[in-house]
Amino acid sequence: MALLELNNISRRYRSGQLQVDALTGINLSIEDGEFVSIMGPSGSGKSTLLNVIGCLDLPTEGTYSIAGRHVEKLRDGELAEIRNRFIGFVFQSFHLLPNLTALENVELPLIYRGVWGKERRDKAKAALESVGLGDRIDHLPSQLSGGEQQRVAISRAIVSSPSLILADEPTGALDSKSSENIMEIFRKLNRETGITIVQVTHERHIALYGRKIYHLLDGQIEKIENIQ
Ligand SMILES: Nc1ncnc2c1ncn2[C@@H]1O[C@H](COP(=O)(O)OP(=O)(O)O)[C@@H](O)[C@H]1O
Ligand SMILES: [Mg+2]
Repeated sequence: MALLELNNISRRYRSGQLQVDALTGINLSIEDGEFVSIMGPSGSGKSTLLNVIGCLDLPTEGTYSIAGRHVEKLRDGELAEIRNRFIGFVFQSFHLLPNLTALENVELPLIYRGVWGKERRDKAKAALESVGLGDRIDHLPSQLSGGEQQRVAISRAIVSSPSLILADEPTGALDSKSSENIMEIFRKLNRETGITIVQVTHERHIALYGRKIYHLLDGQIEKIENIQ
């Protein structure tokens, strides 16, 4: 059974008279343990697709199942639970809370899961250590470089051991050296823990870290490229 299965997914936005077909007829199946990249020009539907995959948005047509559960039939609370249990998100602009330290930011998903005290601190610390930030745990986001902030965000994404990381332009705000560092972390996580990674990028050298590239154009999959 595939971890993610999208059948004939479409997403149409309407505002007044205007309608935009952000996705049309997407068929996509991703197995547990894959590392895939979604590439395409600006406006091709990459973020919309990632939001549907991450249960942040629902398709207007088609069916989608994650770990065998049909998403389009679920209520908001159940969608939130799936996001919480299965998925870690990484965004281009990090989305860290500015008044919390690195450690506190990473502890947040564990609070929602009811993990307390020393166990929570130890898990958050271990996640930060795994991305090489063991000596930065008490820093605020403003005291960290962009690359370090993204590593905190990755720690937050993995701290509750999700099955899937979804990353939307994770290196879009970073210099090339930090970008490579982030991709090496993704590669290592994928290889060593078997976590599934789906990332969106418009840069080919970043996309090449995945084992498969889905090329999007005008809301459709134009081509699937296997990387050796
Ligand atoms: N909330 C929205 N309302 C209306 N149109 C939207 C909305 N979000 C995205 N779109 C449109 O859908 C298309 C795909 O957008 P998006 O998925 O953000 O593309 P990408 O991430 O590849 O740049 C674009 O034409 C965009 O303008
Ligand atoms: Mg986008």
